[in-house]
Amino acid sequence: MAVHLSGIQPSGLLHLGNYFGAIRQHVALSEQKGEHFYFIADYHALTSSRDPEALRSYIRETAITYLALGLDGDSACLFRQSDVPEVTEIAWLLGTVAGMGLLERATSYKDKIAKGLKPSVGLFTYPVLMASDILAYGSDIVPVGKDQAQHVEMAQDMAASFNAAFDAEVFRRPEMLLSEEKSSRKVPGLDGQKMSKSYDNTIWLFETGKPLRKALNRIVTDSRPPTEPKNPDELLLFDLLHLFLDDGELQQLKTSVREGGEGAPGYGDLKNRLAEGIEDWFAPAREKRELLLADTGEVDRILARGGEVARERAASVRDRALEASGLR
Ligand code: ADP
Ligand code: TRP
Repeated sequence: MAVHLSGIQPSGLLHLGNYFGAIRQHVALSEQKGEHFYFIADYHALTSSRDPEALRSYIRETAITYLALGLDGDSACLFRQSDVPEVTEIAWLLGTVAGMGLLERATSYKDKIAKGLKPSVGLFTYPVLMASDILAYGSDIVPVGKDQAQHVEMAQDMAASFNAAFDAEVFRRPEMLLSEEKSSRKVPGLDGQKMSKSYDNTIWLFETGKPLRKALNRIVTDSRPPTEPKNPDELLLFDLLHLFLDDGELQQLKTSVREGGEGAPGYGDLKNRLAEGIEDWFAPAREKRELLLADTGEVDRILARGGEVARERAASVRDRALEASGLR
């Protein structure tokens, strides 16, 4: 049975980009045949977090978000990365075969430094821990966004290096599954750059009411009146609207904007439609989230069970790696 695995960092509230770029695929895949491991990459989050209270709450909120969006915590294995300390052990073993050159080529390290993160050893060896996450459960398929593709390639590389070094088939080669073309188009943020926690341009996927409208008011527009004909494909608003509206309504709105004149929607109207779209899309998940917030025992139970299942799997892979390398 194919093993699917992916992880997400609890480094903030999850936003529309995380949903369309990652979580939606994870939940959809988890309904297919096979084994499914989804985890909250809290060890990884420590490469940037210095606020224990915030981290604790983001870990919980990330778990609740997955469950609210439909991940079945009984059939899939949802767990906290740090509940499986074996991954740090395996990461050490992989670090002994990972070439410096391989890590030095990592673009995400360079990007993070450029954004002002401190160049710590943890940040530099991030891909080794990520390789361990992938290899510790014998993953076959790793669904990720394009920004993580290089990390999965590095995991393939480390698995092959370790197996070759010790002439043993300890680690299985994982394959990546890139998000579909349409949905893997980067979701833009309020300012038109890629939506990202690091750019303060996100929309929390469970935002509603006034705070949602306030956020959407920050979407960059211009001072052209509604009556002036415009090219909808050049408007940031449509890059967000297309995620929530059905094709018929989208085309109709685009046509009115293109034609302009009396009755054409203004930016305010489009923002209102977007707010409604977001609220409707996530309404069932918001309801489920409220239930989970009220029943904390359920989330704890799911994470504890997930951690146990994951840990048992990782321990057996770790044992084989120790055996092959001469440490047992
Ligand atoms: P952030 O940039 O907000 O820190 P992460 O790097 O933690 O987000 O990304 C977590 C997952 O969400 C990754 O798989 C990434 O591909 C996806 N993702 C993040 N932002 C976007 C976006 N704007 N559009 C599409 N996918 C995104
Ligand atoms: N690095 C991933 C991100 O920032 C999170 C992650 C950690 C991950 N370990 C993983 C993703 C293993 C897939 C597989 O989004």
